[in-house]
Amino acid sequence: MSTWDLSTVRHHVLICNGGSCMKKLGDETTLAIRDEIAQHKAEGLIHTTRTRCNGRCEDACVVTVYPQGIWYKEMTPELGRRLVREHLLEGKPLEDQMIYSYETSFVPTGKGRAGVSRIKQ
Ligand code: FES
Repeated sequence: MSTWDLSTVRHHVLICNGGSCMKKLGDETTLAIRDEIAQHKAEGLIHTTRTRCNGRCEDACVVTVYPQGIWYKEMTPELGRRLVREHLLEGKPLEDQMIYSYETSFVPTGKGRAGVSRIKQ
């Protein structure tokens, strides 16, 4: 068990470790992201959490970054390392992998599957 001081954290990265994402390199991507953070000694800036299913299984492996509210699809260990370097440390999101950004609600980029609407007609 851990209780981290989050007062220096700029990014919270949620890495999906649900069943579909684990079949698409979820564990390897988690370890690569955490290793890249450690190599840059950025543990105080970036907090990571393994999650259960995020409800976007066709986009596995899914990684989300808060507070920006950016959702990424089809992440791999190498893309996870780029995520740390380019988005989290340099402020340049990985545009090709982005499926949602956030304004007052999530905004689809058009690069992910449409998904099933929950709005009842
Ligand atoms: S298992 Fe990752 S989105 Fe469903």
